[in-house]
Amino acid sequence: MDLRCVACGERSPHDPLLLSCPRCGEALEVLLAPEVLAGKPEFAGRGVWRYGPLLPGGPAVSLGEGDTGLHRCERLGRDLGIPRLFVKNEGENPTGSFKDRGMTVGISLAIAAGVRAVACASTGNTSASMAAYAARAGLPAFVLVPAGRVAAGKLSQAVAHGAAIAEVEGSFDEAMELVLELARTRREVYLLNSINPYRLEGQKTLAFEVCEALGEAPDAVVLPMGNAGNVSAVWKGFQEFRALGRIGRLPRMIGVQAEGAAPLVRVLRDGASECRVERPETVATAIRIGAPVNWRKAVAAVRLSGGEAGTVTDAEILAAQRDLARLEGLFVEPAAASPIAYLRKRRIPEAATVVCVATGHGLKDPDAVGTAPVRRRRVPANLEALRAAFSEVWPGSGAHGLPIGS
Ligand code: F0G
Repeated sequence: MDLRCVACGERSPHDPLLLSCPRCGEALEVLLAPEVLAGKPEFAGRGVWRYGPLLPGGPAVSLGEGDTGLHRCERLGRDLGIPRLFVKNEGENPTGSFKDRGMTVGISLAIAAGVRAVACASTGNTSASMAAYAARAGLPAFVLVPAGRVAAGKLSQAVAHGAAIAEVEGSFDEAMELVLELARTRREVYLLNSINPYRLEGQKTLAFEVCEALGEAPDAVVLPMGNAGNVSAVWKGFQEFRALGRIGRLPRMIGVQAEGAAPLVRVLRDGASECRVERPETVATAIRIGAPVNWRKAVAAVRLSGGEAGTVTDAEILAAQRDLARLEGLFVEPAAASPIAYLRKRRIPEAATVVCVATGHGLKDPDAVGTAPVRRRRVPANLEALRAAFSEVWPGSGAHGLPIGS
């Protein structure tokens, strides 16, 4: 398992501690050994480690990640005009987001390499996941988050798991720069952001699960892009399954960003030369990122797959979050709803089977639901008042013969 630089192509031997190209400093990707791709790897067991033959290291620390539901969404699919719409619900992972797939691999390697502590900058989910896996491994965890910009559920996870939390007075991008510097100067601190190519190896298993569940690759996969590690990891997974002959075609990768935080869309759709926006802003705090560290990989994934990138507004994101919750019983956080928001406004040509990746659980960010129209009343504790309240909240319910109104 070698490493290759995504910018200059320089090859380096397997080294869990090498997180950027020794020649040009750009991001690295893991290459599977040719004999692995040429052979017939056997998959056994469940979850991320079912795909152990295609992953670096072994499962030293696991909380039972992966194996999330791929939910057929017929009502929403009809509404959006998509014959076979699926939602891969990554909120079903142990800490409630897709990050756990990567963290089991990253932390397991960290232990094998004998590191003394782990660190990350985060918009919330990475820190929650890293803190949980570090706790299980008995490693100290250092977390940098943008002060006041992290959803309540995520921060409480990092607190509960005992991470040392620095609330940086600045943006996520500034926190990211800081933690990169910290890791450069303190070699004993292992960085677990998605710049770590080994962590992304765990995240590619999402693609494997989708292929095994459907028996083929879907026509399109739609997912949110923030630091842009996940779109690249999932694309890599599909490519590897294709190389192994497990699927016959590749899906189009559709990357979605929030209107106010869309540096990748500016590059991919508008031809901008620099992948950066100043002061990113969106209700989807998970993807409030102006300078994605994996932008080269993401641009390649979207372009090579024949996919596209586009934006959605905050209002569209919140409407999609409501649709998923009320039509399909899936409660996801705002960033995780952005793919549905995109499909509402843009038709993907000739895409009959579409998989949306819902990246994180709705309970992560309970405050975001505050803007939804609510049907909720405080009532005195008697049946008459209860009936009156329900018929008021749900006018006409009595007339429709429902048992609750007066
Ligand atoms: N969706 C959710 C819920 C996320 O938490 C993130 C990233 C993304 C999508 C975007 O994934 O960065 O691989 O493109 N969250 C990171 C964090 C940045 O710190 O938790 P990406």
